[in-house]
Amino acid sequence: MCGIVGMVGSRNAVPVLMEGLKRLEYRGYDSAGVAVFQPAGLEIRRAVGRLSELERKLAAHPLDSTLGIGHTRWATHGVASERNCHPHLGQEGRLALVHNGIIENYQELKAGLVQKGVTFSSETDTEVLAQFVADCTTEGDFVCGLRNALKQARGAYAIGMLCTDQPDTLYAARLGSPLIVGKGENGLFIASDVPAILPQVEEVIYLEDGEIARLTPDGVEVWNLAGEEVSPKWVKVEMEDTAVDSGGFETFMLKEIHEQTRVLRGLLDTYLVDENIVLPDLNMPDQQIRELERIMIVSCGTAYYAAMYGRLLIEKFTSIAVETDLGSEFRYRSPKISHGTLVATVSQSGETADTLASVKMAKEAGSPILAICNVFGSSLVRESDHLIYTHAGPEIGVASTKAFTAQLMAFVLFTLHVAEVRGDLSPDKRKELLADLQKIPTAVLRVLEGKEGIREIAEQHHDGPSSLYLGRRFNYPIALEGALKNKEISYQHAEGYAAGEMKHGPIALINDSLPVICICTETADEVDEKMISNVREVQARSGRIIAIATEGDERLADITTDIIFVPRTRESLSPLVNVVALQLLAYYAAQARGTDIDKPRNLAKSVTVE
Ligand code: AGP
Repeated sequence: MCGIVGMVGSRNAVPVLMEGLKRLEYRGYDSAGVAVFQPAGLEIRRAVGRLSELERKLAAHPLDSTLGIGHTRWATHGVASERNCHPHLGQEGRLALVHNGIIENYQELKAGLVQKGVTFSSETDTEVLAQFVADCTTEGDFVCGLRNALKQARGAYAIGMLCTDQPDTLYAARLGSPLIVGKGENGLFIASDVPAILPQVEEVIYLEDGEIARLTPDGVEVWNLAGEEVSPKWVKVEMEDTAVDSGGFETFMLKEIHEQTRVLRGLLDTYLVDENIVLPDLNMPDQQIRELERIMIVSCGTAYYAAMYGRLLIEKFTSIAVETDLGSEFRYRSPKISHGTLVATVSQSGETADTLASVKMAKEAGSPILAICNVFGSSLVRESDHLIYTHAGPEIGVASTKAFTAQLMAFVLFTLHVAEVRGDLSPDKRKELLADLQKIPTAVLRVLEGKEGIREIAEQHHDGPSSLYLGRRFNYPIALEGALKNKEISYQHAEGYAAGEMKHGPIALINDSLPVICICTETADEVDEKMISNVREVQARSGRIIAIATEGDERLADITTDIIFVPRTRESLSPLVNVVALQLLAYYAAQARGTDIDKPRNLAKSVTVE
């Protein structure tokens, strides 16, 4: 996902642009660039690779301007090359533009421009957009011309733009990709998210889809898609800046793994008041909850595994039927959304394209939308009727950890609330669950305290071509998530599987070089023994077993010495604890394999493109 930052102010913008781009690195990128206004014309510096390459160019050819835009590019059209870097110019430098998103009809627009004699120097859709905007704004009201251009561009965009004939003027516009406007004592700013400009701003505007903003020293003007001027909705910035530094940890991901105890405790403190579950943004009347017949949970990646967990919880403790689907599947099939259906979504960023598209489709079908989300003001938040914020703070590591366990906690609280409203849960049972829930943050801390043992296991087993993760029922989604973590950051292939499915095929894989990670924490019923049997099936075929087991459970002692013991936890809550062990296992495997853990290759923090 690309990153955008821009400034019009009273001091040199370049250092602010570079600091902002550094804060956007977590989104994933392969090149970067800046453009600044100079009286003699726009000046551009672009470089492939890390920001340090761009810094090197700026050191050799410094820039000093109070107006500029910057961009980190995550390639969608055209390889990572200097000519494909943003900013892109329109009409020989009359304007410079940076873009996050995809212009789906860029070939059509390009054909029209080529007929007019426009030539192109890159393979990007963004350069076409820059040239198209330049073509539409050569005369008449500039904002009107810009709006006409954007109306003809299909797809998603967040853009920052400056023009050589408009000093002290910075333009911003968004459709489908997030963009904020900020104000502070040094000027006015634009950015893809708040952390990028956090040191600079006191208040921000979350631009709505279709809006165009013009920033000048006189202030900010905003127009909507219909061309009407709208009064900016300024929101005070509450985020602490500590959230965007690694706090002494070697990586953001390790910091965020360790933050989980605090995040989960924070959620309980926020949403559990004297044993009453209070979800202030849920905005779902009891009657609506009582009439719920079905919940469809739609999400992607790690958030999909949270959804799988949510389904198991809701179906165990309430009388509601639940199904889950991937955003990239849901949006292209024909789901039957009837009266009494609630479409719920889970998303850390609130900007995942497939999840957002699914939500829009569900809304068109008349469904209310619940979002479990971590980013205030995100597109998903603005599309939803009902909200549960996960309050995990900015998650910088591309691989999701604290946001995931926060999502799981959000599902627990939502489920208990719904069960209570519908009378599906006895007061005694609810009391028991709440008591067990209160123990979760400490249990997570205990797993973190055992990280050296986990590191030793990871260092023994990371070197094979693949690994297999097995779990049952509440821990089946966790086996999937553990495998994804391993794939994402260690680049070792891994596969999560329902342990009960072993005999239907995967058992053919077992040999003495394949690490098999088995989640065997105790359950209160026959599933417990069935999982142990699965482990013994692996052992009988000389499998290399790594077990996640309940403290004090000695049943595996004769099977493997690679056991990660975790505190005894009710099975339905054990995923919040077990997953932390798997996060650390993947982390130390990645460390041993020397990968870029915070910014794994090819990955972006939020997949805002399809
Ligand atoms: C998680 O480790 C991954 N980075 C990825 O699967 C992520 O969960 C997925 O892209 C969904 O993102 P979202 O939660 O922001 O919607």
